[in-house]
Amino acid sequence: MIAVRRARPSDAPGIAAVHVAAWRSAYAGILDEAYLSELSEIRLAAFYHRAILDRREGHAVFVAAAGGPDQPRDQPGVEPGIVGFASGGRARRRGLAEGEVETLYILDDYREQGVGRRLMRAMAAHLRAIGCNSALAWVLAGNPSRYFYRRLGGRLAMQEHTSVAGRPVEQVAVLWDPIDTLLAATAPVKEG
Ligand SMILES: CC(C)(COP(=O)(O)OP(=O)(O)OC[C@H]1O[C@@H](n2cnc3c(N)ncnc32)[C@H](O)[C@@H]1OP(=O)(O)O)[C@@H](O)C(=O)NCCC(=O)NCCS
Repeated sequence: MIAVRRARPSDAPGIAAVHVAAWRSAYAGILDEAYLSELSEIRLAAFYHRAILDRREGHAVFVAAAGGPDQPRDQPGVEPGIVGFASGGRARRRGLAEGEVETLYILDDYREQGVGRRLMRAMAAHLRAIGCNSALAWVLAGNPSRYFYRRLGGRLAMQEHTSVAGRPVEQVAVLWDPIDTLLAATAPVKEG
């Protein structure tokens, strides 16, 4: 069973492990190989530990945690097994949208099972609760995940040059305005 909930400080090492695995998988060929191979779980765990505690600007971190038979086998020290996470808060850049989904990463083995949609719903509900009437997510133009955001009703708002880890890249902003379009697209499916 996979539970989506607000992150606790003790989740930081599991979040860092997902970050490293998902970045190496999603950004191979897009970002610098040396940069990806040097990603440090220890440094990232410290970063996410601070991020979980820092609630300024409505910032929040949510995790997807697997228990029982769903728990990842290769992370024996991490309880419960974090298989995905999302974070965000009020938009870092003013003008395009009020809220922002800053990160969303899921382990390869747990994709296409609805976990991304559930994490996006948690983020959307949180952003709505802190008063954001619209939301956006930045995604690298070469990342097929942009089609996931489109699937959830986001529309392309703008494209721009930027640099990640010293490499020039194109990124696109996907927008939900009003944010209720994201809440509707991520609503739990009623059985029967
Ligand atoms: C993008 C990501 C978060 C999607 O999570 P997921 O758990 O696999 O997605 P879900 O199973 O909830 O999918 C929801 C819907 O989107 C669709 N979908 C998922 N990934 C998709 C993709 N890359 N392209 C098109 N549609 C996609 C699913 O088929 C599903 O469709 P449905 O409405 O018919 O059921 C996940 O693939 C991931 O972590 N990717 C790598 C990291 C990354 O790039 N993150 C984004 C950084 S900005």
